[in-house]
Amino acid sequence: MSKIATLEIDGKKYEFPVIIGTENEVAIDIEKLRSETGYITMDPGYKNSGSCKSDITFLDGEEGILRYRGYSIEDLAGKANFLEVAYLLVFGELPTKDQLFQFEEDIRKHTLVNEEMKKIVEGFPRTAHPMGILASLTSALTAFNPKPVNVENEKEMYQAVCKTMGKFLVIATYTYRKSMGYPLNYYDNTKGYVENFMHLMFELPTGPYTPDPAVVDALNKLFILHGDHEQNCSTSTVRMVGSSHAGLFASISAGVSALWGPLHGGANQAVLEMLEEIQANGGDADKYMAKAKDRNDPFRLMGFGHRVYKNFDPRAKIIKKAADEVLATLGVDDPILQIAKKLEAAALVDDYFVSRKLYPNVDFYSGIIYRAMGIPTEMFTVLFAIGRLPGWIAQWKEMRINKEPIGRPRQIYTGYELRDFKPMDQR
Ligand code: CMC
Repeated sequence: MSKIATLEIDGKKYEFPVIIGTENEVAIDIEKLRSETGYITMDPGYKNSGSCKSDITFLDGEEGILRYRGYSIEDLAGKANFLEVAYLLVFGELPTKDQLFQFEEDIRKHTLVNEEMKKIVEGFPRTAHPMGILASLTSALTAFNPKPVNVENEKEMYQAVCKTMGKFLVIATYTYRKSMGYPLNYYDNTKGYVENFMHLMFELPTGPYTPDPAVVDALNKLFILHGDHEQNCSTSTVRMVGSSHAGLFASISAGVSALWGPLHGGANQAVLEMLEEIQANGGDADKYMAKAKDRNDPFRLMGFGHRVYKNFDPRAKIIKKAADEVLATLGVDDPILQIAKKLEAAALVDDYFVSRKLYPNVDFYSGIIYRAMGIPTEMFTVLFAIGRLPGWIAQWKEMRINKEPIGRPRQIYTGYELRDFKPMDQR
């Protein structure tokens, strides 16, 4: 039987339908609220507001559950490869062997980036943050691919997915090559997608380069863990921008900018900088714990807390284990890992963190793995973006196929009432 929610305002009752999701998540459908009552709801930061129905990712913050298209993150991170998961996210089902082969082939057809893009890269100062460059280059791809995608046309949409996956990986690595003054590299169509990331980043014209297979494996896992996370800040941005029927590259460029912030994807860079600072100050984690708890200090323990996870972040659990494994495999003994573990152990028994349900999130340990792989700190959020790309594409595609209306929140105006215009000499 369908459920109804009743709202009473000034003695008058209004009824609203209740929506129930596959996993029994419940929402009050207030689509007709304003037209029937004249009221709107107020929910800064959208802590209680659903923006859409989605078939892509299920997340239970209380139980620490994350699933893509019904498959547990633990299974996917342990058994699948990144392109397999990208295919699953975007097209809804795990690919067959042939479908995956074809997907890789089709992505390879789009890995050459227009040479004119290099002139844009040249214009940036070497010190520019890679995320700023990446957002600009992604947006610039629109100029080289101006034809809008017809989302109703499966073939066109499939090609747009392959094109975005192919070109984004290459331009993501331009940002690092630029900062180092290295020539920009080309995708090697004889190698796999994740392996190519390492080649694009680190292969120099002066000699051969072979990435460590352990590093490629770990990257594969990290990209999968970042693949999608339902309606987070950057994904909501991608959907919001796309809801005006802006193109895929333009929407993803906006997502990159949203991800950059230190409260979102930029936290992975901030965590490592924080750990390095603690190390430089003698490794005294207590001082930083005290700062994080001080209401008058804006400092936050980076890599801790999550809007949705209030028990543990399942991605953090997998990454912590991976950090131990990768460092051991690479023979890296990083004191920063010990500081991170000390900080985590202290926070897990500290009343401030426990009472606010603040646990390590995906960004807490990922930077330690990236560092062990030789990835510079400023590139960490770019790696998050590469992992999140299939999620952004999947959500953009779903939003357009479901013909969602343009995103346009309302507000409560709190400024001046009507005032008379004052001529300049009377102000
Ligand atoms: N260190 C210290 N205090 C914190 C922290 C933290 N990392 N996170 C939250 N709090 C406190 C906050 O001050 C507030 O305290 P009070 O109730 O006394 O005012 C309480 O916990 C609730 O915090 P909130 O800011 O209302 O929670 P939110 O859901 O709006 O913010 C968050 C979530 C992730 C932005 C926040 O926890 C944070 O800033 N964490 C550090 C940045 C970080 O690691 N971000 C990565 C998130 S995971 C990757 C991703 O998907 O983006």
